[in-house]
Amino acid sequence: MKIAVVGTGYVGLVTGTCFAETGNHVTCVDINEAKIKQMQDGIVPIYEPGLEDMFHRNVNEGRLNFTTSLSEGIEGAKVIFLALPTPPGEDGSADLKYILQVANDLGPLLADYTVIIDKSTVPVGTSELVQTAIAKEAKFPFDVVSNPEFLREGVAVEDFMKPDRVVIGTQSDRAKEMMSKLYAPLVRQGNPIIFMDERSAEMTKYAANAFLATKITFMNEIANLCEKVGANVDDIRRGIGTDSRIGKRFLFAGIGYGGSCFPKDVQALAKTSEENDYQFHILDSVMRVNELQKTKLMPYIQGHFKNDLAGKTIGIWGLAFKPYTDDIREAPALYNIEALLALGCKVRVYDPEAMKNVQDQIGDVVEYSKTPYDAIDGADALLIVTEWPQFRTPDFERMETLLKNKVIFDGRNLYELPQMQELGYTYYSVGRQS
Ligand code: UGA
Repeated sequence: MKIAVVGTGYVGLVTGTCFAETGNHVTCVDINEAKIKQMQDGIVPIYEPGLEDMFHRNVNEGRLNFTTSLSEGIEGAKVIFLALPTPPGEDGSADLKYILQVANDLGPLLADYTVIIDKSTVPVGTSELVQTAIAKEAKFPFDVVSNPEFLREGVAVEDFMKPDRVVIGTQSDRAKEMMSKLYAPLVRQGNPIIFMDERSAEMTKYAANAFLATKITFMNEIANLCEKVGANVDDIRRGIGTDSRIGKRFLFAGIGYGGSCFPKDVQALAKTSEENDYQFHILDSVMRVNELQKTKLMPYIQGHFKNDLAGKTIGIWGLAFKPYTDDIREAPALYNIEALLALGCKVRVYDPEAMKNVQDQIGDVVEYSKTPYDAIDGADALLIVTEWPQFRTPDFERMETLLKNKVIFDGRNLYELPQMQELGYTYYSVGRQS
């Protein structure tokens, strides 16, 4: 099938590359000339495990192309994916200007029956707006389908190729048939394609992300309470996660969720509720708790150093909002850096992937280290923000020779308490006893 993907952010590029991998001819369209040129020159603009190999294979085999021209990109395409950004506007609602602009442009360009697919996370009712925008100048029949993505950064290729489920919102049999054909290679193991109407598909995406954000936040609050009552959140996680109704995943307490999706989507869903005259109380709490959770360790740092942090050096391990990505959007690390700098600390950071992005954003107000050990050389304490696997089994003996004080503030609970006691570290973590 000939496919066009408009928008080559992380969702668009993964979608385009993976559909090329299943034998389709894909043209990716983006208005960003530099980015398109980069991809034409064989450079993958984002870091996503497994993407690079797949990208080169499909480019070499002639199934993956790039253009800045919408008309050229959609020529002969039976389906057009819209994978455009929906940034939060001032009031928290998703801004649809990019999607609606492309929808307006698409109308007169359609030259046959086409399925246009909303892949971006968009508020309920957007597919109707897209439908109206295209219909203004369309001379051929078309259907607008809502097909939300559930990709996790860092494992997006794997999630795309082996989805737990595919959600397709359309009431058109013709569109259903095309979508089934397109996704058939990805659901061979019996993972379901779930058909529903457009609005329900749009709502499904928000419900999934808001539920997951709530699940994490609930555990974070349990953790906060565990500290006060003398319990250990790891045991609580094991104790409740074995209940199949609760499930083991997404129960890890820490210093809050970040990224480009959960914060934005929870906020947008709260806004949708407000607009529909419904007060979604849980979402309001989730947002408030997560905000506080990000800098949850700051009072412990202040307490440990008796409020005298001026001139102290804190080494930070991990800047990305989670491991296996260089994404720093809404990353707890940034909030902690800001708080530490405000208290007069010197901050030295290390992250295997995200340092360049942080430097681009905040410049040289912190020192960037080549290795995790450089980041703590002569530091007064270590603060762990992202659970990169390499931080899980560090050389504690070497750390002891580098750190001025044997103190670790761990926002991701990487180490066991008895181990840290044995090693003689003062160890603060989340939801456990220090
Ligand atoms: C999330 C969803 O998981 C995807 O299904 C969805 O497609 C995507 O948003 C999106 O809307 O595009 P992602 O933002 O890549 O994916 O990240 P997650 O792996 O879900 O992690 C989100 C945050 O939750 C991270 O900050 C992570 O550290 C935190 N987290 C996760 C916890 O604090 N505890 C946990 O137990 C799990």
